[in-house]
Amino acid sequence: MDAPKDIFKKHQAQTFPFPSCLEIESARGSYIYDVNGKAYLDFVAGVSACTLGHSNPIITNAVKEQLDKYTHVMVYGEYVQSPQYKLAQLLAKNLPESLSCTYFTNSGAEAIEGAMKLAKRATGRPEIISCKDSYHGSTQGALSIMGNEEHKAKYRPLLPNCNQIIYNDIESLVNITKQTAAVVIEPIQGGTGFVTPINNFLEKVRERCTQTGTLLICDEIQTCFGRLGTLFGFEKYSVIPDILCIAKGMGSGMPIGAFISSWELMNLLTFEPKLGHITTFGGHPINCVASLACLEHLLATDIMQEVAKKEQLFRKHLTHPKIKGIRGNGLMLSLEFENEELAKKVVEQSLKNGLILFYFLFTKTAIRITPPLTISDDEIIKGCRIIKGILKA
Ligand SMILES: Cc1ncc(COP(=O)(O)O)c(C=O)c1O
Repeated sequence: MDAPKDIFKKHQAQTFPFPSCLEIESARGSYIYDVNGKAYLDFVAGVSACTLGHSNPIITNAVKEQLDKYTHVMVYGEYVQSPQYKLAQLLAKNLPESLSCTYFTNSGAEAIEGAMKLAKRATGRPEIISCKDSYHGSTQGALSIMGNEEHKAKYRPLLPNCNQIIYNDIESLVNITKQTAAVVIEPIQGGTGFVTPINNFLEKVRERCTQTGTLLICDEIQTCFGRLGTLFGFEKYSVIPDILCIAKGMGSGMPIGAFISSWELMNLLTFEPKLGHITTFGGHPINCVASLACLEHLLATDIMQEVAKKEQLFRKHLTHPKIKGIRGNGLMLSLEFENEELAKKVVEQSLKNGLILFYFLFTKTAIRITPPLTISDDEIIKGCRIIKGILKA
């Protein structure tokens, strides 16, 4: 009989030539357990997705309760379903007035697709601008605005009129013109290893968008729901987007995304033509109750307020001559090493030592630390010791 690993490799489409093949039995809190009962401290959280840790009863109870009521009843946008409207209302309560209307999707990439369409519909303009080295998803629209040609070349032709600015390069903002429907930007650039904005870059982008009548789309798929210590990343940078895209952590382990804008803009998807953007499962009630439970819990506790303290703990316990720098913000941190071999070795050896770390899409010399926001101080210190132990060896 084939081993599970072999079945996985043979019958599941593979995206990476060397997957870790960790065989999962269960996950709870900050730990994932393999089928042999070995515990792994999770410094990745399903790539910034498991906001409240694994199998948090707050999420599982909400899901179980909803499962007993109903699951899918109709395509998105037809029936009034309390998981959806309660989540949309609570999001609106915690966002600026101009971001009061939510369209739920199944994923981050779909949120980006919807936002791109809405911007074109609203402005009648052809061009979408994104940043060099940005990642916004793998569907064809999102891929068209990905800022890395190596990942795009074999999938061309993609969307026309997708152009770029350079993250943190204010001079490149001249590329945003009256032809530009929208600029899509991450508050912290993910694929390059959590590069943070400098010299008021995001504010300058906002300014240029306002000058040219271009819509600003913030891709907060990775930064939303408290990862930077504020509910949304844009709050840290005094910038209000015209369209906000969220996903990943908003479901605390369940698959949901959303694009959010003003009611007036969203209303453009309702007419001429009708059904301007449709989805069967977007805003699935099971995922909406998970997201609502997560949001209510974040708002009712001091989890977000503790993010800055936890960031400092990481920074304090990760000083080592072989760590060349720590980038990022909040619980979205990246460790920079002097070469790719060392970064790879740290990830591989950590796994052997019961600590999960992970890579970035575009930089090979850095590794990501994005644990559940509920990680404890002791767990942070324990994981940092494992990393330093490997560097010493
Ligand atoms: C910044 C950013 N945008 C968009 C996406 C795409 O989200 P999804 O994988 O849910 O489609 C990701 C996923 O990694 C992301 O990090």
